Amino acid sequence: MANSLLERDAKFLAGIGKLRTYPLTIKNARGNRLIEENGREVLDLSGAAGAALLGYGHPAVIEAARRGFTECASASDMFGASESAVALAEQLLGIVPEATDHKVWFGHSGSDANDTAMRAITAATGRKRFLSFYGAYHGGVSGSMSVSSHPSQQHTLPRAGLVQIPYANPYRPISGDDAAKAVFDYLDFLFTCGCPPDDIGALFIEPLQSDGGMLVPPPGFLKELTERCRAHGILIVSDEVKVGLGRPGRWHCYQAEEVIPDVVTFGKGLGSGVPISAIVAPREIMDFQEAFALITATGNSVSTCVASAALTTIENDGLIANATARGEQIMDGLRALQERHAIIGEVRGRGLAIGFELVRDRLTKEPATIEAAKVILRGYQLGATFTYVGMFSNVPELTPPLTLTEAEADEAIAIIGQAVDDVENGRVSDDEVAAFAGW
Ligand SMILES: Cc1ncc(COP(=O)(O)O)c(C=O)c1O
Repeated sequence: MANSLLERDAKFLAGIGKLRTYPLTIKNARGNRLIEENGREVLDLSGAAGAALLGYGHPAVIEAARRGFTECASASDMFGASESAVALAEQLLGIVPEATDHKVWFGHSGSDANDTAMRAITAATGRKRFLSFYGAYHGGVSGSMSVSSHPSQQHTLPRAGLVQIPYANPYRPISGDDAAKAVFDYLDFLFTCGCPPDDIGALFIEPLQSDGGMLVPPPGFLKELTERCRAHGILIVSDEVKVGLGRPGRWHCYQAEEVIPDVVTFGKGLGSGVPISAIVAPREIMDFQEAFALITATGNSVSTCVASAALTTIENDGLIANATARGEQIMDGLRALQERHAIIGEVRGRGLAIGFELVRDRLTKEPATIEAAKVILRGYQLGATFTYVGMFSNVPELTPPLTLTEAEADEAIAIIGQAVDDVENGRVSDDEVAAFAGW
């Protein structure tokens, strides 16, 4: 007989939909903290992998959800024009400077947004191939997974005709010292010998490759790459699902790279606690065909009212500036830890999208994979949740709510510092961490 929440969860919920790095129970949440079954409060430095953009129980979100239920018909906007869906589309178009003659499609998750974007691009351009990065994570349904290549997804084959290139990683260039040049050389080779570029419909980018290791590309890399692609008529899709909407200290992460995308996809934080995603793209792609991407409950008024409230709150509460300030505070704190702890090889990020790469040796850069799992577990034990990303699962990642306070950022550094110290000094055993499969 299963009794505790953890036992019931293990017995009744499928492992394939789970990521387990610590024995967290979630009874409730408030502000930027999760509340466990036993009442313990835990600072959520993951922000539900970026989905809790405004933390938990934000008054604006609660009020918007109430409005979505009581003042609108909440099931779907599929059969008619709904005020809350149209208003959100207008609002979203207003924050995408590239949107001139653009339209919006709503879905439920970043996964379906990228999936739908792919199909619409193929239909509109007639080009069936895509270009994406090794290490990319664009979603967990068949289409978006098939243009991804995160190690956790190697059970699924890439889509036919997918062309993949390495992400320019200044910490680990694929060859030589110039991470960007190595990728351009590879791209030139591919376009000459591997795949006619005129067959490629779009390049999918994450302007900061999060699940691949919170990689910040070298300056100018994405700008030049996208310009090279555009010369062949290849569209640029910027996946802003995890690192966009104020998190990078700007509305959009692609703005930090001076990239001009054709198509932008949103998810996670757009709903700030409710499921909603969006594609913003030119009319000729989005008007390809009626009934092309039907999902019944998309555009429902609860999700659209909450998303509108989230965008308004980001603007009115100065949360983009807060992301910059708290991000600098945390990265300064991590760099100070790096001076004391050899295991921290690199600290990187933009705004409140931050990673710190753990290595066993700063010269060889041997990934400290089990150590990263231990830091995550110890962090949880000490009172903060965050997870790890990266091709070697050795990069603890912080994507906290944009509402994180200065005091909470200090608390985060103190907990991480203690966790790293405990791991470096052998105070977390292999057995303790072995119970958590991670990803
Ligand atoms: C960059 C990126 N795109 C898309 C997705 C898929 O979003 P979701 O899991 O909400 O469907 C994720 C999820 O982690 C992501 O990080």
